Amino acid sequence: MFPTTLPVPHRHPAHQIPALRWGIVGPGWIADHFANALRHHTQQQLVAVSSRSLDKAQAFATKWEIPHAVEGIDALLSRNDVDVVYIATPHNHHFSDGLRTLQAGKHVLIEKPLALNAQQALQLQQAAHQQQRLCVEAMWCDFAPKYDVIRQLLADGTLGDVHTLLADHGEYFTEDHRIFNADLAGGTMLDLGSYLLGLSVLVGGAPASITAVGQPAPGGVNGQASMLLTHANGMHSVLNTTLFSNTPGTAVIAGRDATLYLDGQFYAPGNFRLTSSDGRHTLRWEEPANRYIQLSHEIEHTAWCIHQGLTDSPVRPLATSLATLSAMDAVRQQIGVVFNEERTA
Ligand SMILES: NC(=O)c1ccc[n+]([C@@H]2O[C@H](COP(=O)([O-])OP(=O)(O)OC[C@H]3O[C@@H](n4cnc5c(N)ncnc54)[C@H](OP(=O)(O)O)[C@@H]3O)[C@@H](O)[C@H]2O)c1
Repeated sequence: MFPTTLPVPHRHPAHQIPALRWGIVGPGWIADHFANALRHHTQQQLVAVSSRSLDKAQAFATKWEIPHAVEGIDALLSRNDVDVVYIATPHNHHFSDGLRTLQAGKHVLIEKPLALNAQQALQLQQAAHQQQRLCVEAMWCDFAPKYDVIRQLLADGTLGDVHTLLADHGEYFTEDHRIFNADLAGGTMLDLGSYLLGLSVLVGGAPASITAVGQPAPGGVNGQASMLLTHANGMHSVLNTTLFSNTPGTAVIAGRDATLYLDGQFYAPGNFRLTSSDGRHTLRWEEPANRYIQLSHEIEHTAWCIHQGLTDSPVRPLATSLATLSAMDAVRQQIGVVFNEERTA
């Protein structure tokens, strides 16, 4: 039965979101957006920032009115006035920075991807459990209202049996971007592919089989990958990611009863429409494409989890991060991409 309205997104009650004291590690491009979202769109507090360069930490602290700028992650982790740490370093630092944070007894929100591979993610999961501290992957779309509505539509069966997911995520990068740097675990898979595999796991669960082809890019990283995943319920995910060019970035979740069409970029704030298979009914989700302001949702969700005493997020459990990384491991194995850290391990 086609609904008359879209589900209402869940919100945590404000009194269950304590104002926690945050530290930021890696004051780069995304950290800047994170600080803006936290300062202007939440009640959370920024108390410290660390960088490999004290000058850089101080410049970031001045910009965002953060009282303490320190050199190196250890100086930040030793502070008693930091409750929770946001890790915004390149991919191949997520595991070591996240592990150190948990071992220092702090809660941690780690930029996507949680780690380089499923084996590292498992170690983070074990550390969070041992330390009884929260560890969450900052897969920002999962915490946004749009994805909450999509999860509800899938859970209540509005689409009927879902047979097909089609999605792409291609972005043009200049060759000086870290995505071309093999020493920073560059390549399209961890950066852009995370969103595709994340959506595929969200809709169809962990894949039953994966077939992938890739093409290398200058710098020795993966430039593009095309992937076909099958899922236990019979669903197929057909996915493409590239760092060579801009592509529409749309996603289609096609069910027997109705189809969801997500505008590009599907994971970012923006519109979708739900249309019944007979074409007679359509419902629309419309919101400003206000991009990184919506990092506020992952920030507030993290504070809510800590308030609840959780070591794992119910919205993006570490098991989901692990399933996504396992799928990416399998793709990388097929297209022959090995990170430096995996060679020496
Ligand atoms: N949620 C999203 O929408 C989103 C968007 C973009 C990126 N991301 C994720 O956020 C992470 C950071 O991306 P970004 O684009 O913000 O990166 P970035 O600006 O290039 O780098 C972030 C910070 O990492 C540190 N860093 C850079 N190179 C390093 C090195 N060789 N060794 C150790 N630290 C180094 C630097 O901090 P210091 O020099 O100050 O120590 C830098 O400011 C990535 O994992 C990416 O996937 C998420």
